[in-house]
Amino acid sequence: MGILIMKRMLFLLALLAPIGAQAGAASDIAWTPEQLKFVKNGNINKGKELAQTCGSCHGDTGQGMKEEQNEDVLIPAIPALAGQVANYTYKQLRDYAKDQRSHASMTGIAKGLSEQDAADLAVWFSSLPLPKSSGSNSNLAKAEKMVAEGDGKRILPPCFVCHGANGQGEKMDIPALAGQQADYFAKALLAYKSGERHNDIYSRMRLIAQQLSEAEIKELAQYYQAFK
Ligand code: HEC
Ligand code: HEC
Repeated sequence: MGILIMKRMLFLLALLAPIGAQAGAASDIAWTPEQLKFVKNGNINKGKELAQTCGSCHGDTGQGMKEEQNEDVLIPAIPALAGQVANYTYKQLRDYAKDQRSHASMTGIAKGLSEQDAADLAVWFSSLPLPKSSGSNSNLAKAEKMVAEGDGKRILPPCFVCHGANGQGEKMDIPALAGQQADYFAKALLAYKSGERHNDIYSRMRLIAQQLSEAEIKELAQYYQAFK
């Protein structure tokens, strides 16, 4: 990547932070050294045990549910958890528990987990391989461009600067997207766009999703599900 493009990107990212910071607390989670250490020290074996109750929805290996695995039923938007950044999974479970993110099934499930359970589960799922990509990523040139270059006219940074060149996620709490279930992915972006989901610290995803059209969101979802 050229140094000029890099500089421009950093400038765009710098613009994003101060706007979001005024929006108030999106989440009770703050990534202090203690908090980071707490998640890192989660007990992987306990996490594996606890995860048995998650498999009926998220798949036995946390791979999520994809359409081709079950063509006859309408697949609800269930995300993969395997290979996810542990801090991200931990934060989402705590956000559901604190009503900072809400969902008919997950809110109740997360309220039944202690902070320790959430850390154990987060560490377990992060130890599993990312979900396999599926579907085709040809004819998705617009999404590919958005991921790699963003759109300077709309002050949209490329997705990869945060979510990683391999869609693997980044520190502290930026989720992996590679192989993520497309229906869930699109639903998540639409929820940030409408503000229904507002647990992203500094509004990092809301500011981006607000500027994406529904067509762009659908294409990005397909692109990441097929990510290679
Ligand atoms: C009844 C089905 C069901 C069960 C059981 C279930 N989940 Fe979920 N889970 C979902 C659905 C559906 C979503 C998407 C919710 C949304 O859109 O906010 C989700 C979302 C999540 C998310 C957010 C993922 C992301 O990418 O942001 C996490 C983390 C999660 N679940 C963890 C768990 C864990 C851990 C367990 C077991 C203790 C579990 N879930 C059990 C259905 C379930
Ligand atoms: C400034 C950094 C940044 C950029 C750029 C960025 N994201 Fe994100 N994204 C995040 C963070 C941080 C989260 C998690 C927020 C939270 O805690 O809810 C996130 C969450 C998401 C989620 C929800 C994942 C899940 O499992 O629920 C999706 C989907 C997503 N981003 C897609 C994109 C796409 C597509 C782009 C490019 C158009 C993009 N992001 C650009 C930082 C970024």
